[in-house]
Formats: sequence, structure tokens, C-alpha cells
Amino acid sequence: MKSPKHLTGTATTSAAQPAALISSLNVSFGAAHVLKDVSMEIPSQSVVGLVGESGSGKSTLGKTLVGINTPSSGQILIHGEDFTRMHGRRRQELRREVQYIPQDPYSSLSPRRTTGQTLAEALDPVGANPLERQEEISEALLSVKLDPSAADKYPHEFSGGQRQRIAIARALMLKPRLIIADEITSALDVSVQAEIIRLLQGMRETVDSSMLFISHNLAVVQQLCDHVVVMYRGEIVEHGPIGEVYNDPAHHYTRKLLSSVPGAPGFNLD
Ligand SMILES: Nc1ncnc2c1ncn2[C@@H]1O[C@H](COP(=O)(O)OP(=O)(O)O)[C@@H](O)[C@H]1O
Ligand SMILES: [Mg+2]
Repeated sequence: MKSPKHLTGTATTSAAQPAALISSLNVSFGAAHVLKDVSMEIPSQSVVGLVGESGSGKSTLGKTLVGINTPSSGQILIHGEDFTRMHGRRRQELRREVQYIPQDPYSSLSPRRTTGQTLAEALDPVGANPLERQEEISEALLSVKLDPSAADKYPHEFSGGQRQRIAIARALMLKPRLIIADEITSALDVSVQAEIIRLLQGMRETVDSSMLFISHNLAVVQQLCDHVVVMYRGEIVEHGPIGEVYNDPAHHYTRKLLSSVPGAPGFNLD
């Protein structure tokens, strides 16, 4: 395993700080030790892919970064600020700065709210009024290539891909500095997946945030990410720039994952 070289920085806030710096993070659920001494960095303005088979702990890591899970030990610095030791108002603010987009847009959007209400609520959890927020809502919908008229419709009136665009718009509305996208294309058809990937690729130029892109699909990660982190049974077994890891995987598990990626070393036609 290549060791992280970035864990000596001091905790001051500046633009050059990584979006997230995770050191020696451990997460357990009862007796199950799910994340084991995880250290990694999400550089500022980058898209980092997190890959690994189902059950390896990817979602657990993503949810720990937004405060849904509590680590038993370790540190999470978000732009230099220690999220694991933060309380009160600043913690609430930081929770808006790091947005989690779940895999399933069916369960994450309320069936009884119009898109406009859902988006207004993201901005004002108390006292949301879509009429007062019309301009921002239209802008958010256009940013994910949906017509502003989508604001008046309910989730069941959209396709799966459109719903996932709404979930992306909702996360982007808060102008987060870090987005955790957890298998957001996995539930979609291959052609719709490609559409979402193109959308995210286009956003890289205009949106000023970093992203942790969680996927079990290395081919998708290759299209979107600068860096990749490979997780296996709760541990990071490999990380580095995407080209290096794909061309010269150090860990046997990474080689196994790559065997299903067309064009990668060891690609297996069977
Ligand atoms: N809230 C939870 N309570 C108990 N066990 C959990 C919880 N969340 C995840 N796990 C367990 O942690 C392991 C990793 O799960 P997960 O992070 O969802 O993996 P992945 O996203 O890579 O598929 C699994 O064994 C899962 O059952
Ligand atoms: Mg998961």
C-alpha cells in the first residue's frame, strides 16, 4: 500500500487546504469494525473516486463525512476545520457545506412535495416558500439541464434519471464545498448513467466544489475522477492519480476490479 504523504498539515483554514483530510478513521457498529484506520485526502477542486465491492464500507465512509455516522477514533478535517470535534452552530453550518447525494432518488425525494418545495426546503428547512425562491430554484434546475417548469411537478412525474438530477440540484443549491455522491448512477440504465456522468463532467468547470464519487464501477470512475481510492473490507488498499492506479495497480484486489474495465491492464473479455 502506498502510504499517504499528506497527514502532517496543521489545521488552519485557507483556500489551499484539501476539501477533506481524513486520518486514522475508525467506525464500528456494535462489534462490527467497519472502517479500519482509514486515511485519505480529497484535494481542493478535485473529484476523487472511491471504489470497492459491496459491503466494503464506502457508504459508511461517505456518511461519516457528513456526520450521519460517528467515528470511534480518528480525525476529519473539512477545509482545515476539525469536523469530528465540532459542536453547535458551526457544525450545523458545516453540515450544509458537505452534501450527501444518496443512490436512490426515489426514497430521497418526498412523493408529496413538488420539486420547487423540495428545493426551497433545502435552502430554508424552516418556513420554506418556493415563491420567494423562484429565481434560485429555476437556476438550480437549469444547472442540471431540467426545465424550470419541473418546479411544479411531483417526483412520480419524472424518470429515474430526472429524479437523480433533482437530487443533484438540491445538493448544489447549498453551494457545498464538498459533495459526496454515493452510487448516484448505479440505479440508472446505462444510457442515463452516461447522461449523468456528462452532466457531472460539465459541472466540473462551473461548480466550485470537490466531490467524493463513490462507485463500484471503475469504468465510470475513470471517466470522471482525477484520483481513485480503493477500499477493501474497510481498509484503503490503494490510492493515487487515476492514470497511475489504472496503469500500474499495486494491489491484487485493484487488479481484480480492473479486469472488468475495457482497455485497463488485465481486462478480461470473459
Ligand atoms: N448503520 C449500520 N449499522 C450496522 N451495520 C452497518 C450500518 N451501516 C453499514 N453497516 C455494515 O457495514 C458494512 C459496510 O457497509 P457499507 O458502508 O454500506 O458498504 P458499501 O457502501 O461499500 O457497500 C456492511 O457489513 C454493513 O452491513
Ligand atoms: Mg454503499
